[in-house]
Amino acid sequence: MSNEMPTAIPLPLSDEVLRELIPKAKDWALMHGAAMRSKTSFSADSLNFAPFVLTPSAVPRKEFQRAVDLQCVINKLVHAVAHNREFLVDCLKETIKVDEFTKNLFNIYNIVTEEGITQRTSLAILRSDYMSHSLDNNRLKQVEVNTIACSFAGISSLLLQLNSFILAELHQADKLANMPENHALEGICSGMLTAHRHYGVPNAVILFLVEDTTYNICDQRFHEFEIARLNPRVRVKRRTLTDIAVDGRLGDKRIYFSDDFEVAVVYFRSGYEPDHYVTQGEWDARLMIERSLAIKCPSIQYHLAGTKKVQQELASPGCLERFLDDPNEVEAVRSIFTGLYSLDMDDEGNKNVRMALDHPERYVLKPQREGGGNNIYGHEIHTALSRMRGTERTGWILMQRIEPPIARSYIIRPGGPDVPEMVDMVSELGIFGVIIGDETNILENEQVGHMLRTKVATANEAGVAAGSGALDSPFLID
Ligand SMILES: Nc1ncnc2c1ncn2[C@@H]1O[C@H](COP(=O)(O)OP(=O)(O)OP(=O)(O)O)[C@@H](O)[C@H]1O
Ligand SMILES: [Mg+2]
Repeated sequence: MSNEMPTAIPLPLSDEVLRELIPKAKDWALMHGAAMRSKTSFSADSLNFAPFVLTPSAVPRKEFQRAVDLQCVINKLVHAVAHNREFLVDCLKETIKVDEFTKNLFNIYNIVTEEGITQRTSLAILRSDYMSHSLDNNRLKQVEVNTIACSFAGISSLLLQLNSFILAELHQADKLANMPENHALEGICSGMLTAHRHYGVPNAVILFLVEDTTYNICDQRFHEFEIARLNPRVRVKRRTLTDIAVDGRLGDKRIYFSDDFEVAVVYFRSGYEPDHYVTQGEWDARLMIERSLAIKCPSIQYHLAGTKKVQQELASPGCLERFLDDPNEVEAVRSIFTGLYSLDMDDEGNKNVRMALDHPERYVLKPQREGGGNNIYGHEIHTALSRMRGTERTGWILMQRIEPPIARSYIIRPGGPDVPEMVDMVSELGIFGVIIGDETNILENEQVGHMLRTKVATANEAGVAAGSGALDSPFLID
């Protein structure tokens, strides 16, 4: 396959067609909730449509299916890693010496394991992210597995309809068969309801742990509304870590709020970056949650299993075999890995630093962070590594840079021109998985849907909320 992806339909479109289509597509997005709050002029009373790609982007069908088929194995793998204390302790022992945030998470993990974990069942909503690697026949390579606050299942489930509407408007309805169904939202919310049932108190709530200000509000609300649709008897409440610090209390190991509702499930859409813990109060609230009987999505060990350091360690020789018995599964997972290198203070780490300094354009330097915007690319790797002092580099990992093939379409953004230019873009596929269980027993393990994010080819990161990314739908090609 070449370095360029075919377009779903013949492009470019004429200015006349774009002028007619784009306002309609924007309104479709707004009226169906493919939208977000504005970062630049925030108002809780209004929405902007979420940036989207006008025509769906090509993804090789076989590769899409490979990622879908692999998700339950990835769920099982992450579940096994999260429940292997010896591995987590050993893998993160150097990282927590230099990375304060991971250390604080690890402290909570230590406290609750020493006390004895109260709620052995975890709910994990995972998203395994991939990009096609043009240097390897456009095969999908894993960017990472997210284990906390995996977003966009709600809006992505809508994008299929938005892109379908657009194709139909362009007289391309015969192409709709190439767009896979997406039930991510329903699958995820069913998982939350299974966890709620497992907790066993019908009038206890599902608590959405949210940021102080939520920009990605539609995506979160879709989860709330879907829970209400699937089971109108289950209530959802939204609270911040600060609210829990102020109003939450632990009684008989259960979380209660001052207005006296009990929490069955805590679904984290916050708590994954240092800014979410402004004071010790937020850390105390996190500890309270982990000590409680509430089912956590994710529990602390799952949060740790999603660190970049764990990802890098899993790619080292012989490591997957510790967690997966079936050699075919080991092979299948290994085939999606790209180069992952430790920056430990040893010969191996020194060699990897030299490798990065010699060819910084081939790598991405990553700290133990989530939420986008923290990685370092290309020549800045040089500056960053030379500035690091002492053992600081052990808080980071090095990853081979995936080079995705170029696709072309129009990215539609709030405030954008009436007639946008066609741009070179690259896409990133996320597959959602849900797994519920404890150390010895898995209650549910499923692949539930997908998302596609696309960015202009020159941007390093595809964060939709952060700026350069746009929501998209896969268009499967043979
Ligand atoms: N190896 C890589 N090659 C090319 N691009 C990469 C690579 N790793 C990460 N990126 C880009 O950087 C983005 C963020 O990377 P990553 O997912 O590792 O960080 P994160 O902070 O956990 O982000 P997220 O909030 O999406 O989970 C990816 O979505 C991708 O666009
Ligand atoms: Mg991430």
